[in-house]
Amino acid sequence: MTTGISIRDTVRVPGDKSISHRSLILAALSDGASRIGGLLRSADVDSTASVLAALGVAIEPDGEFVVVHGRGLRGLLVPKGPLYCGNSGTTARLMSGVLAAHAFDSTLTGDASLSRRPMRRATTPLERMGAHFTFQSSHDGLPLTIHGGTLSSIGWESATASAQIKSAILLAALNAQVGASVTEPEKSRDHTERMLAARGVPVIVDGNSVSIGVARSMPAMDSFVPGDPSSAAFFVALAALLPGRDIVMPRVCVNPTRIGFMEVVRRMGATVTLVSAEDVGGEPVATIRASGRDSLASVTVGAAEMPSMIDEIPMLACLASRAEGETVITGASELRHKESDRIAAVVRNLQAIGVEAEELTDGMTIRGSNAALSGTVETHGDHRIAMAFGVLGAATGGGIHIVDAECVNVSYPAFWSDLRRVAQ
Ligand code: S3P
Repeated sequence: MTTGISIRDTVRVPGDKSISHRSLILAALSDGASRIGGLLRSADVDSTASVLAALGVAIEPDGEFVVVHGRGLRGLLVPKGPLYCGNSGTTARLMSGVLAAHAFDSTLTGDASLSRRPMRRATTPLERMGAHFTFQSSHDGLPLTIHGGTLSSIGWESATASAQIKSAILLAALNAQVGASVTEPEKSRDHTERMLAARGVPVIVDGNSVSIGVARSMPAMDSFVPGDPSSAAFFVALAALLPGRDIVMPRVCVNPTRIGFMEVVRRMGATVTLVSAEDVGGEPVATIRASGRDSLASVTVGAAEMPSMIDEIPMLACLASRAEGETVITGASELRHKESDRIAAVVRNLQAIGVEAEELTDGMTIRGSNAALSGTVETHGDHRIAMAFGVLGAATGGGIHIVDAECVNVSYPAFWSDLRRVAQ
């Protein structure tokens, strides 16, 4: 713990969700047993673990660790039934790539929210590689049957900056033992390529493009999952909303593709510092320290910054409701395809508690004020909507009631107890 900071001001945010999914999947595809420390224990990561277990992967807890007994590349077993991905888009997209290279049929299913989310953006490049898919509903979502088999190499220009699409292609190529390259309009989070490189897979990164070469196998590897910057963002925002408070979050992943929010909060006037950065298994990890000032300034954010803060837009919008002037967020149409339509959900909820906000096709505008806020927030089962408005409520006097608050279990089961402790 940093000297001079009390328990009340320290938050140990849970393990990074993106890295947790990938740690389990890559360990399952390795030869031998991998021990993972710091793994996020949450509903989304449980979805990946139970899908892998249904494909023959033994996963066992060992105190603070989880041990995964890998089956090797293309070594997963035919599942006995549908593979339920719960609410987790990362499970569905990444596993569609893994399964495309396995020579059997498998069916991915999900909850009502996940079943509405688009899958064709991932299956189109996989079809180009030689896989076949059957969509069982009239739209683009789950249930989806994957007819996997032999795949060929691919060079893919993605229309969207999406780590899930990119990772589906890379994981398909890894298992099929062919090369692949993916180019994106902006660089999305790069955990998959960092973790593949750490496991000896040939990876070349050139700006917004990544290529992988053929690996005959992947050795098992022990690893540690650092704290999730998307979970830390809620406490950075809380500090920014509470002048005089100083909140410290040890051992958080500060990968540049993930910390756009920290930069924007600095532009709004709060202080956010990254202390004693170190390399942990190919990821930069640091202690984040955040403190607020008397007032916050509005900001303008657009497409170029969006991938590095896409999951933090609900929190940014809530922060903007207390800033001076109008905040404009554009280039964020991807938000319409998350756990809820986050543009509509954020704007309607801000309006419901008394904030002036407007929807744009690809973003929103928010006018900040110091007015008292109160009303009911509908989360639509979306964890990030619940947590963003929870922070705003805690910082502005508790007049905000959140429906279905337990949906935070998807990424941060201890969120409400951490928030109560820190905001008291
Ligand atoms: C994720 C990628 C992002 C992000 C999601 C997790 C990942 O989605 O919003 O919460 O782990 O790859 P997109 O890849 O669709 O941008």
